[in-house]
Amino acid sequence: MTNQGAPGLRAHVTGWGRYVPEQVITNADLEKMVDTNDEWIVTRTGIRERRVAAANETTASMAAVAGLRAIRTAGLDPDEIDLILLATLTPDYYMPSTAALVKEAIGNTRAAAMDVAAACSGFVYAFSTAQAYVTSGLAKHVLVIGAELLTRFLDYSDRGTCILFGDGAGAVVVSGSAEPGGALGIELTTESQGAYMIWLPAGGAKSPPSRETVARGEHYIRMEGRETYRFATRTLASTALASIRRAGLEPDDVKLFIPHQANIRIIEAVAKGLGLSMDRMFVNLDRYGNTSAASVPIALAEAVNSGRVEVGDRICIVAFGAGFTSGAATIEWTADPTRGIDADTLVRPGDVHVRLPVDWDSVDPIPPALAELMARPGELPVPLDDVVPGEPAPAPVS
Ligand SMILES: CC(C)(COP(=O)(O)OP(=O)(O)OC[C@H]1O[C@@H](n2cnc3c(N)ncnc32)[C@H](O)[C@@H]1OP(=O)(O)O)[C@@H](O)C(=O)NCCC(=O)NCCS
Repeated sequence: MTNQGAPGLRAHVTGWGRYVPEQVITNADLEKMVDTNDEWIVTRTGIRERRVAAANETTASMAAVAGLRAIRTAGLDPDEIDLILLATLTPDYYMPSTAALVKEAIGNTRAAAMDVAAACSGFVYAFSTAQAYVTSGLAKHVLVIGAELLTRFLDYSDRGTCILFGDGAGAVVVSGSAEPGGALGIELTTESQGAYMIWLPAGGAKSPPSRETVARGEHYIRMEGRETYRFATRTLASTALASIRRAGLEPDDVKLFIPHQANIRIIEAVAKGLGLSMDRMFVNLDRYGNTSAASVPIALAEAVNSGRVEVGDRICIVAFGAGFTSGAATIEWTADPTRGIDADTLVRPGDVHVRLPVDWDSVDPIPPALAELMARPGELPVPLDDVVPGEPAPAPVS
């Protein structure tokens, strides 16, 4: 992929934000469900806990909160966004796109909106698409979101996968301007021989959902862990390096790497592959697990808000995922890093309203295996009709 568009215009990150659900599932919680233990999970992955969306949350609702926070950080009005790109492998529906629901939820009337499917690399793929739109002049401000609700697609009898993943959303605003800096170099790869190493067998055209597919558990994520691990350790460093070199830089010129948060051992391998120490790698997977397309933008927002990125710093976002895909972008940071600190208090989940379908019966979206864990003593149950597809609220009686 080439990385520079029309002369003069550059793609800058002007806003960032993230949202994670409140409910925490610890390794000790998972010990009650599958034959695993905290020591194994921490040693093999680095993960200590992950977030789980409540019954009243969806990929669209989390994406909308993160997206609105990014828009506020950029100092924009939602209607100034020209294009919404939402990277996810867990859309609310096959159709419409989750991006379409997010557009309305954040109060935007003019943007084009679409989902991007590149699994855990999805955010970097969407970011590179945004870069192409703004540098070509087709869009001035693009909202790029990574959002996932993976805990509803996990087999809680498979200890090889259910311990890894969590829910959340992150977003950036990419804006075009003639100022120097912004996205400097982008590299994307797809190695289709790994297509069935991480996959979700049923639900698509090849194997439409049926009683049989559900009985066989084919609506859950399947993964060959060791093969995926090998791909990740082989590819992440080389993809990052290609992106850095496209920017005319060397790894040592990059202040902070924001890698996909899948496994601490994979991130250590990237650091080793690039000849850098671990303090150059941002890590938050201990708190969130692998949130797929949401992992890089959540980590980016937390890195910037915690003071790890300053104006003029070069950073590199890099991810890998099903496909097999990988992607990296080297960016010269140009925005005031303090702008995002208040975003969480400025935008609350109640500020977004995702449209619900009309005349549709509610279904409890929480997997039975999780329901017991999520019903913590003393916590009020969330009314189902508040959240999931349901009847419209009855008109108030006057
Ligand atoms: C999944 C992963 C953590 C497993 O770690 P690993 O070191 O490769 O472990 P293995 O799969 O070789 O399994 C080693 C042993 O631990 C066991 N094991 C697997 N999961 C376990 C768990 N949650 N708790 C306890 N034991 C477990 C296995 O059954 C195996 O036992 P055995 O030796 O008796 O057969 C690791 O392969 C990984 O991170 N892969 C990449 C996954 C990834 O990043 N996916 C997302 C891509 S975006």
